[in-house]
Amino acid sequence: MSLRHFIDLQDIDAITLRAMIDHAREIKSDRSAGKPRKLLADKKLAMIFEKHSTRTRVSFESGMLELGGHALNLTSSDLQIGRGESIADTARVLSRYVDAIMMRAIDHRSVIELANYATVPIINGLTDLSHPCQIMADLLTFEEHRGSIKGATVAWIGDGNNVANSWITAAEKFDFTLNIACPEDLAPAASYLESAGKHAVLFDNPQDAVKGANAVVTDTWVSMGQDTSETHKKKLRPYQVGTELMALADKDAIFMHCLPAHRGEEVTADVIDGPQSVVWDEAENRLHAQKAVLVWCMQG
Ligand code: CP
Ligand code: NVA
Repeated sequence: MSLRHFIDLQDIDAITLRAMIDHAREIKSDRSAGKPRKLLADKKLAMIFEKHSTRTRVSFESGMLELGGHALNLTSSDLQIGRGESIADTARVLSRYVDAIMMRAIDHRSVIELANYATVPIINGLTDLSHPCQIMADLLTFEEHRGSIKGATVAWIGDGNNVANSWITAAEKFDFTLNIACPEDLAPAASYLESAGKHAVLFDNPQDAVKGANAVVTDTWVSMGQDTSETHKKKLRPYQVGTELMALADKDAIFMHCLPAHRGEEVTADVIDGPQSVVWDEAENRLHAQKAVLVWCMQG
């Protein structure tokens, strides 16, 4: 049987993804009722980080512990990868010790390479191309606050980055519309847009994109490993999410951000710290959504 990798939402069918979100909701409610389930007793997860992380690292480690398993935190500089050992050999060796591997990689191809040689499931903990674990948490958060996302409108404002790419696939898989406003040369990857078809709509300006939106989402203007120049940031200035922009969305719209946030850049403090913001629930939901992902990968 083929391994259940969680590398990109594009690889997994809509019914399976929906089941994972529903399972995440159950796992969360069992935990808050004081009945945590040890669904991954004695299972081990290796976590390889080539980039910084707060939420991904801590939610995966806490999640494995709460499920009865264990997580090993491995930075690429501590591993022999940092001294030139290949990803292929690392995959072969780690597969002999652990039950799954999560990797946050500079280059998406490293995660694919890992999956090509591992004999255990591989989970994408963010790459330059996508951030599927984040979007599972975001879907759970949206539905907790606003009900089924099917048929809803979500507005993505700002850089067409890795998180945007995963939102685009989510729109296709969960049957909602993603309105995207971004500078022309910072648009999301064409392959994601093409695959999503009518579910992803590009707008010339943020004001039109947020009209009627049930959620407004943004992310940092400078992703890890990206262009940090002032020219890049200058292009994104008209895309700041402030109260005036939020006022153009649906009156019950929520504000979402995967964090870390940069107040005064992609979002103003009064929006992210204001009544429409659900960012802390979103961060918490990384824990619950990823538990469902881990169980799906390791119980398959
Ligand atoms: N949102 C997210 O992935 O956060 P970290 O970079 O802190 O893991
Ligand atoms: N787009 C951001 C997300 C961080 C969680 C980055 O890649 O840095």
